[in-house]
Amino acid sequence: MGPGPSDISPRVLQALSQPTIGHLDPLFIGMMDEVKALLQYAFQTENPFTIAVSAPGSAGMETCFVNLIEAGDTVVVCRNGVFGDRMRENVERLGATAVMVDDDWGKAVDPEKVEAALKAHPEASILAFVHAETSTGALSDAETLSALARQHDCLTIVDTVTSLAGVPLKVDEWQLDAVYSGSQKCLSCVPGLSPVTLSQKAIDKIQSRGSKVQSWFLDQSLVLGYWSGDGKRSYHHTAPVNSLYALHESLVMVHDEGLENTWQRHRDMHELLKSGLNSLGIQFLVDEADRLPQLNAVAIPEGVDDAAVRSRLLNEYNLEIGAGLGALAGKAWRIG
Ligand SMILES: Cc1ncc(COP(=O)(O)O)c(C=O)c1O
Repeated sequence: MGPGPSDISPRVLQALSQPTIGHLDPLFIGMMDEVKALLQYAFQTENPFTIAVSAPGSAGMETCFVNLIEAGDTVVVCRNGVFGDRMRENVERLGATAVMVDDDWGKAVDPEKVEAALKAHPEASILAFVHAETSTGALSDAETLSALARQHDCLTIVDTVTSLAGVPLKVDEWQLDAVYSGSQKCLSCVPGLSPVTLSQKAIDKIQSRGSKVQSWFLDQSLVLGYWSGDGKRSYHHTAPVNSLYALHESLVMVHDEGLENTWQRHRDMHELLKSGLNSLGIQFLVDEADRLPQLNAVAIPEGVDDAAVRSRLLNEYNLEIGAGLGALAGKAWRIG
């Protein structure tokens, strides 16, 4: 019951333990095509470029930033928790300028502030934001933010590490451009893979770059030769074969359950948890309208020893809950 990695189904663990075959084996390539189709379903997109990057969510984040941004670009970055600040780090390390839009921890990104920043910076080419801020439990309105970006000729980079399969996420309907996630949260898979999907506009932007992508490993024009092509796939890196078996199985489970049911399951569990916590007098940090059902940030009651409660839960009940991060360290618990 921490903020991730989540518990993994025995079905997924069993898939993980199947014999390892070659990453260019026709059987494996067939499975990769299924992973792509299942990820398209989970992301609600028809983007042909929908893959799992062979590394954790942070690499998915970096994939989107290194491919879409060049030195000298301006990027509007929304920061309402830990992960928005990591976006800033990515932008600055690429020699680009990050225009920060700050909101309090525990609040959703404020579209009015974003609009003001986009108006003040017509040179900006990207709007980057976190859909579900794992450090605070706040959900931002990706559809509205994406519409604002389009009005100002910006593409979007969207962190959906904690939102994919946990709350509605509609990549095509909301016209999101570069979207990354993680395997270990609401997909309940092993950590270490990062689903990524890119719109045609994002691909066009990558193809019109004036400079090479700084990272060889994350340069998606090179990775694509491995993830697509009619039968002729070329070696790029040794794929984490067994982890991809696991991702395949977890995506099959989401598909069989049906996304709407998956979202509802998280909401139902949230309601149960909320009523239990309410009866203990424990308060949520995030306003009801912006609250993530899958990541519950609650205030540590006055006088209660944070670490003692967490270690008692772990040692006596075999339950892990998360500590507060950054500005919320020592002030909040995060319950998945
Ligand atoms: C919102 C968000 N973005 C990015 C990451 C980074 O993912 P990973 O730890 O898999 O590298 C996390 C991890 O918790 C996250 O919650």
